[in-house]
Amino acid sequence: MPPRSDNILLELQDINKSFRTKHIQTNALKNIFLKINKGDFLAITGPSGGGKSTLLSVLSLLDKPDSGAYLYQNKPLGNLSFDQMAAFRNRKFGIIFQAYNLVGDLTVSQNIALPLKYSTSIPKQNWTKLVSNALHSVDLMPRAHHYPAQLSGGQQQRASIARALVTSPSVIFADEPTGNLDSENKNQIISLFRKLNEEGITICMVTHDLEIAEQCRRQLVIRDGALFD
Ligand SMILES: Nc1ncnc2c1ncn2[C@@H]1O[C@H](COP(=O)(O)OP(=O)(O)OP(=O)(O)O)[C@@H](O)[C@H]1O
Ligand SMILES: [Mg+2]
Repeated sequence: MPPRSDNILLELQDINKSFRTKHIQTNALKNIFLKINKGDFLAITGPSGGGKSTLLSVLSLLDKPDSGAYLYQNKPLGNLSFDQMAAFRNRKFGIIFQAYNLVGDLTVSQNIALPLKYSTSIPKQNWTKLVSNALHSVDLMPRAHHYPAQLSGGQQQRASIARALVTSPSVIFADEPTGNLDSENKNQIISLFRKLNEEGITICMVTHDLEIAEQCRRQLVIRDGALFD
């Protein structure tokens, strides 16, 4: 049954993106059509160089396509500037990377508070509570005042998830979130995603790990820039 239009959170229509260097043009995304529903738990898989990270960057408004339409809740976002994209991302999305991307000279709490500092809508008096809720939801309260280098890989990834959660995003985008983790930590991250998804957050994850992808509710494959549902 096709999804009801009021259930579609995000939609790509005929998206194309290529990269040109001096000697080569790569068509990284070719005529991509994709609908992500509210509450989806989606894995994007495919071979290295297939276009996974490029697709996630376009979906999460980190990068712009060359052509095609991007709709959020059935409304085309139009031609946003990079500043407007950043503001939209800050309000609606949480983004997680394989390499965690925590700031080394800030504590876990300070890292988690960063998106709040860029937010224009969350009052400062709520920050402490929001950071502590986010820490709690990833089970990292005892590590609040540690620095990233003092944490294990799994703990660093949980801190980066808390940072993504602190603004109560509608969607979490994650690029290979378990790529640097052993199987125990991988499972912990996936359980955490499952819990967040049950609480209503839409999750869209890139992974080349098929065991991980199988635990997601929906799987897409992107190969040579073409998406297969
Ligand atoms: N900034 C860039 N400049 C030039 N080419 C790029 C750029 N970013 C990506 N590409 C090319 O676009 C294609 C898709 O890259 P992408 O990073 O999306 O692949 P991927 O599926 O995420 O691969 P991996 O599993 O290795 O992370 C590749 O051929 C890559 O070389
Ligand atoms: Mg990639």
